[in-house]
Amino acid sequence: MRLTIVGGGGFRVPLVYGALLTDHAEGRVTEVVLHDPDDRRLRAVSRVLAEQAAGVPDAPRVSATTDLDEALRGADFVFSAIRVGGLQGRADDERVALAEGVLGQETVGAGGIAYGLRTVPVAVDIARRVARLAPDAWVINFTNPAGLVTEAMSRHLGDRVIGICDSPVGLGRRIARVLGADPGRAFVDYVGLNHLGWVRGLRVAGRDELPRLLADPALLGSFEEGRLFGADWLRSLGAVPNEYLHYYYFNRETVRAYQEAGQTRGAFLRDQQARFYERAGDPGGSALRAWDRTRAEREATYMSENRESAGAGEREADDLSGGYEKVALALMRAIARDERATLILNVRNRSTLSVLDADAVVEVPCLVDASGAHPLAADPLPGHATGLVCAVKAVDREVLAAAESGSRASAVAAFALHPLVDSVTVARRLLEGYTAVHPGLAYLR
Ligand code: G6P
Ligand code: MN
Repeated sequence: MRLTIVGGGGFRVPLVYGALLTDHAEGRVTEVVLHDPDDRRLRAVSRVLAEQAAGVPDAPRVSATTDLDEALRGADFVFSAIRVGGLQGRADDERVALAEGVLGQETVGAGGIAYGLRTVPVAVDIARRVARLAPDAWVINFTNPAGLVTEAMSRHLGDRVIGICDSPVGLGRRIARVLGADPGRAFVDYVGLNHLGWVRGLRVAGRDELPRLLADPALLGSFEEGRLFGADWLRSLGAVPNEYLHYYYFNRETVRAYQEAGQTRGAFLRDQQARFYERAGDPGGSALRAWDRTRAEREATYMSENRESAGAGEREADDLSGGYEKVALALMRAIARDERATLILNVRNRSTLSVLDADAVVEVPCLVDASGAHPLAADPLPGHATGLVCAVKAVDREVLAAAESGSRASAVAAFALHPLVDSVTVARRLLEGYTAVHPGLAYLR
């Protein structure tokens, strides 16, 4: 079984490889092909993987190439985890928006739109190449904004592309833990779009345990999202939102906290990763140790401004590892070995949510087997969620239209229609600001 990782020089690749190393069963991945346009990053990551594989007799073979077509040919699975514009691009996405007084963040609001506008054309190119060179491969999309990018790729790959994110699983796991339930046996009734979803039930042996959580202030104060949103607001919603909803429900506070931070998240990661790739290239040192230290620091500081502005304190030890690689491995196993699993994934809606059309990519629990990921029937969205989900999907559609046609008017509409951008004038200035700094937006005319 061959797995190709597009974005193979990326920092999270060792997480995926580490998960593969734990899999010794029949049908496991035996060969990993890394693709990245940057040869130096490929070499650094390959060194980390080689150290991880030391002493593991059945470790998957690793090769690396800067030729995308060569990487895709013969792939059974393709992971796509690219960052168009690099971390400097992420830092610019944040800075331009914050200077206009609106949220600058990797996936949410103006920053997410700018990132989407840059990324969709590149993701579509990858999808087209997969369709041509590896038509039977399954594509697992990690690239953010994951829902939007998966939808763009699905127009070329249909249901062979599946988007993943670790935050719904992490949330479900935390809720199960505080309720004393086994996360492996609980069904998490999660619904929405990527980074815009809500847990509105947690069923254990057919019984919904979430009301017990919502009724108990002590339990609500004992986990990350409970502290982030506060017990009263969670009770008003009757659901527990994904942590990314913090940017919506506490927008002023998060924008201010981000504006006042010494460095944005993207700028911090840009500098941190530059140091890592530098060190990993040093033949005298351990690339794996350098990677692990960098990873630990990254995880500990994840969403720290949000937690600070909400007085939510430090992350808990159990929450530090997102489990991103575990979702990917579980999905691959279910497909490759026809082992039925229920996973929260980004897939085409079909008739799951009646307020969206069939091709809209949504994030919902799916039944996965060798025939792919099939969304399970779900109750209608709660009233408070309907407006947000429809508004953000309309924004996604403007981004897709802009990426396809190169229309600036569609790009302005994407910014202007977003619930976290409060003026059409600001939307126009955002597009000007972004096109001035991002060469990847030159296609917009
Ligand atoms: C979570 C999200 C991912 C996102 C990551 C950002 O895991 O689900 O979509 O990429 O956080 O973390 P970072 O360390 O890059 O800020
Ligand atoms: Mn995510």
